Amino acid sequence: MVMDCTVIMHPGDELPQPDAVALAHSQRVIEALRQDIAAQGGAIGFDRFMDLALYAPGLGYYSAGAHKLGPGGDFVTAPEVSSLFSRCVAAQCAQVLLQLGGGSILELGAGSGTMACDVLLELAQRQALPDSYLILEVSADLRARQQARVRAQLPGLAQRVHWLETMPAMPIRGVVVANEVLDALPVSRFVWRKGVPGELRVGYGTGGFGWVEGEPQTDFDPAIAALLDACPDGYTSEWNARLAPWIAAVAAVLETGLLLFTDYGYPRREFYHAQRADGTLRCHYRHRAHANPFFWPGLQDITAAVDFTAVAEAALQCGLQLRGFTTQAHFLIGCGLAQMAAELNDADTRRRAQLSRQVQVLTLPAELGEMIKAVALTRNLALPLIGFSGPDHRHRL
Ligand SMILES: C[S@@+](CC[C@H](N)C(=O)[O-])C[C@H]1O[C@@H](n2cnc3c(N)ncnc32)[C@H](O)[C@@H]1O
Repeated sequence: MVMDCTVIMHPGDELPQPDAVALAHSQRVIEALRQDIAAQGGAIGFDRFMDLALYAPGLGYYSAGAHKLGPGGDFVTAPEVSSLFSRCVAAQCAQVLLQLGGGSILELGAGSGTMACDVLLELAQRQALPDSYLILEVSADLRARQQARVRAQLPGLAQRVHWLETMPAMPIRGVVVANEVLDALPVSRFVWRKGVPGELRVGYGTGGFGWVEGEPQTDFDPAIAALLDACPDGYTSEWNARLAPWIAAVAAVLETGLLLFTDYGYPRREFYHAQRADGTLRCHYRHRAHANPFFWPGLQDITAAVDFTAVAEAALQCGLQLRGFTTQAHFLIGCGLAQMAAELNDADTRRRAQLSRQVQVLTLPAELGEMIKAVALTRNLALPLIGFSGPDHRHRL
């Protein structure tokens, strides 16, 4: 999500008011969550809260019909900022597909479908089209939007695009890509008390949703616990117990090729830093960012930063190789961003100014350039990857 959205501390005071239809929808989501909390004995894990608030069929933020991505929605991602992002991803895909003599692309969580269209257009230009472009999307609403966009924008290529609701049954030879999907996976929340992590669960009372401090966590990751010893009492953060199984499911379908994740996040030592004392939760509503996940459930996005050390560990466990970890800026530059932007120099002045602004948003450290990282995981692929030919940050993991 682009960071030049307004960050507000007290969402109740400053968020634009939803209309009556949206508020009625949020009430239904609140009621479903309230009933679930009651059925589970008075509190649920935050991962379950996030799962329902984002993905409950017909109710959750991603599963119901509201406009989410782009200027008219709640947030903007890199593929929505500029097609240059997706053209760079395509350059990386082309290198792998040409080396393998063909293959498929699997995109996980395709949002509005913008990246799929721009990647396919660029690959067509490069004469490196995949045999098929698969999209695994958990939201039926987004699947329908993606299908409409692909049919409208790529009438000649649409027959190569296929949608899945679960991981493909057949192994993939080619590239698996996911932009800002890991940060949308449900996370658990905890508070560090006297050297022990206690789970922060979600309850519902007269004041609405609130945190309920649960029992000390017995299944907590010891590597995270070791870092938390340096953090103050009361330190609150998130960890993603679902990440490793999810990576294992993705890794299981990659027979040969590259798995490329781009997302917000940090190496573990920076994620669990003493200064990040309230964790990394971020909610987005109408281009405002704040940290209260209980606000208007169903109407706002909820995300948490990615622990990229956990991503690398999970991938290595599945026999993948960690072939690169770098910032989005360096990834895009390695893929030829500067040359692509220069080729557009004959555009008119207004267009050139637009492109220059887009390049800034994608690459400047204070925008998306450093907050978003790219990680490359491969199986049976020895090729030096163009997107990871610049500064190598793997030692930070
Ligand atoms: C923040 S949006 C990013 C969309 C798009 N990749 C982009 O960059 O604009 C998160 C996307 O991940 C999808 N998603 C969430 N959990 C998923 C999962 N377990 N498998 C596949 N897609 C998932 C959401 O439905 C949504 O399309």
